[in-house]
Amino acid sequence: MQTAVGVAERMGKVGPQVIRNFMPNQHREFFAQLPFIVLGAVDASGDAWATLIAGNPGFLHSPDPQTLEFAAIPDPRDPGVAGLGDGSAIGLLGIELHTRRRNRMNGRVVTHDAGGLRVNVEHAFGNCPQYIQLRDWQMVRGPDDHLAVSQPIALDPKDPRVQALITAADTFFVASYIDDETGRHVDVSHRGGKSGFVRVNADGSLTIPDFAGNLHFNTLGNFLINPKAGLVFPDFETGDLLQLTGDAEVVLDSSEIAAFAGAERLWTFRPRRAVLRHEALPLRFVFRPEGWSPNILRTGDWDRVRRRLDAEKLHSNWRPFRVERIVEESIHAEAFGPASVDRQQAPAEPALARAAAGPVDVVFVRSGQEARWQPGSGSLLELAEASGLTPDFSCRNGRCGTCATRVLAGSVTYPSPPAARAGAEHALICCALPAADKVSGSNQLVLDL
Ligand code: FES
Repeated sequence: MQTAVGVAERMGKVGPQVIRNFMPNQHREFFAQLPFIVLGAVDASGDAWATLIAGNPGFLHSPDPQTLEFAAIPDPRDPGVAGLGDGSAIGLLGIELHTRRRNRMNGRVVTHDAGGLRVNVEHAFGNCPQYIQLRDWQMVRGPDDHLAVSQPIALDPKDPRVQALITAADTFFVASYIDDETGRHVDVSHRGGKSGFVRVNADGSLTIPDFAGNLHFNTLGNFLINPKAGLVFPDFETGDLLQLTGDAEVVLDSSEIAAFAGAERLWTFRPRRAVLRHEALPLRFVFRPEGWSPNILRTGDWDRVRRRLDAEKLHSNWRPFRVERIVEESIHAEAFGPASVDRQQAPAEPALARAAAGPVDVVFVRSGQEARWQPGSGSLLELAEASGLTPDFSCRNGRCGTCATRVLAGSVTYPSPPAARAGAEHALICCALPAADKVSGSNQLVLDL
């Protein structure tokens, strides 16, 4: 997938820096404070399922950087639970809807018994906060009280209840997987957009825009090898979960891509089975005022796509015409003088400062560390990591803003302008370098890390 969009070389360098085979302490602490986790698993027939497993904060616990334990007992009627046998590969996504933080962890079930689940980490990595709407949560019943939940309902994917839940959704989660010579690898990811960003087509298939992201393509890359996919649509107000399993296909060439603002590609999903579990989640969420993700507000919608494509079709259907006779009295003339309209030039991007040509002492104030940056030695994030710090990051290429860090003294610059905006007082440390300080000549940079 990275080759198809021309970023394979760049991401070949970034990938190994972003993906770890252990959970850093901040991920372990993060998982322990969550009231639910998203899980992707594969059942015995090879179908992928995504689901949400809830518990009181603390139900997830990491006794060491390689292990995550669940004290929750998943509902055995959940189709996603069929893929939790000992040794099974699973994908996990911890996400806080009230802060937009999220971290991923893919691994293998070590034990699944009456006491819960124990998972061994294979890959752990952070994710950026883009496309997440802010919601506050509350627990409305005992999380393990599955008797309070009615029997799952198997539905035709074209059932109006399925379609109503999908077309109202602004969030869903998708599980995908591949098998290779090292075994099975499962991933589960978040997708967000304006309500209705998932289009239900006349044949019951779905079309989903894929917005600019971290370029890792965990989900779409898997689809190119194995189309099996599992989607879960939570109804955050009622606690209902709609789970679908079926086949996905990546669409790289379609007039609808350019017509959907923000979409860089599309993918389709053809559901084969649908399961609705009323009130399966013991949680209820309230959408925060101003809770829309700013990235989502810049995206389009399917109605505008249709109108835009209709207008383009109309335009290409115009036929040339010929004027046969001009009536002299019908010609009116108007004289034009110098233009009185003020035309404002788009402000030019300010030129980037030069990077420091010599060593710079970098002080990480909050952690009490200090390190010396040398020209050619990499970004400030790499310097922080080499000093034993574990700052938040996601894309590592200036696109997401996750690594934004306050600059307390000194100044930074970038090899090329980053896509994300950090604000005047902050630096995107994943790609920032100390700037040559022309004003004070100081060779010190102080970061709030
Ligand atoms: S980690 Fe994404 S901008 Fe730095």
